[in-house]
Amino acid sequence: MKKLLALTALCSVVVLLLLTPSCNNSSSNKPVASGKEDSLKKILDRGEYLANHVAACLDCHSTRDITKFAGPVVVGTEGQGGFEFGPGVGVPGKVYAKNITPDTETGIGTWTDDEILRAMTHGINKAGDTLFPIMPYARYNQMAKSDLLAIVAYIRTLKPIKNKIPARQLMIPIAMAYPAPALQASVDANVLPAETNKVAYGAYLGNMAHCTDCHTPLTPQGAPDMTKLFAGGHLFDLGTFKVVASNITSDTATGIGAWTEERFLNKFLPLREEKNYNFNPGKENTVMPLPAMAGMTDSDLKAIYAWVKTIPAVTNKIEKYPK
Ligand code: HEC
Ligand code: HEC
Repeated sequence: MKKLLALTALCSVVVLLLLTPSCNNSSSNKPVASGKEDSLKKILDRGEYLANHVAACLDCHSTRDITKFAGPVVVGTEGQGGFEFGPGVGVPGKVYAKNITPDTETGIGTWTDDEILRAMTHGINKAGDTLFPIMPYARYNQMAKSDLLAIVAYIRTLKPIKNKIPARQLMIPIAMAYPAPALQASVDANVLPAETNKVAYGAYLGNMAHCTDCHTPLTPQGAPDMTKLFAGGHLFDLGTFKVVASNITSDTATGIGAWTEERFLNKFLPLREEKNYNFNPGKENTVMPLPAMAGMTDSDLKAIYAWVKTIPAVTNKIEKYPK
């Protein structure tokens, strides 16, 4: 608890520093590193890693080029929002990712840390509006406070971009979609498992990477059906291509039970090289944020694999590219 408080204080310092114009973009006149700056840098590095590669905030909150394989983020649009989620991905209406750059008019430049945390973990924004749960706040509600604060500190360093986001249009009252039962009132007791506890750490990262949201069929109420965890089947129709989320349970016939760790890693690793996504794959494309997730370390991907292997088998045959 004491540690957490210290970290909170530390983060406010980062934020203050970053908000001071003279400290912005100061790469040319970096102050001499001290122990404190080292720990600030550590926090920002952790935030950058999680926001870009694990929680994948910037995958949804930037422009994705879906004419390329796995829809890589268009460089220079990080955090500006605007990506549309519509009926093709299961949204009853149209919801747009918001501008989360520090722009004070159209972004989150005027929000406090607590306001950003509330949006991230409870889906309530600064204005008090409830966010549609395609924003994975039910997953981030399980994250350790230190990681949440690291992400907040990092997104405050994004380049401010002026980009006004259209209002969403929902066909159902937002209260119907709000995942209240899945949300803990406070995130203060959440723990960051030790990396040496591979399965627990993998589960922690996999939760943050919201594998569940895409790979689990939904109940009629629209929540992930935990009795069919990872059984796949969710259709994504982006207009130019259609793809169905795979069964990634350990079922050997219809899931990935026969996969080795190496094969699992090979789903991600090639996407570390631009040439492996910078092409138009036509109809055999995917929405899985592979270029982003490929930036996870090998050991983090291995931890996720160790966790995925523990998910019970569910037989559910998937046709990845439906006609
Ligand atoms: C799967 C896509 C997706 C991911 C991943 C995602 N978001 Fe969002 N986020 C959204 C959408 C869509 C909205 C708007 C929801 C609405 O309007 O109801 C939103 C809203 C927000 C808001 C509220 C902004 C406002 O002006 O109301 C904040 C803050 C935010 N996201 C931060 C984050 C952070 C930080 C992360 C990573 C930890 C993240 N998001 C990850 C899709 C996503
Ligand atoms: C935005 C939705 C989305 C998210 C998030 C997502 N996936 Fe996927 N995933 C898909 C889709 C769609 C496919 C099928 C197309 C393809 O192979 O990429 C897929 C395919 C896969 C495959 C290949 C299975 C096969 O039979 O070829 C694996 C393995 C996988 N996902 C694991 C994961 C893991 C682990 C996570 C979390 C770290 C994750 N996915 C997060 C949408 C998603």
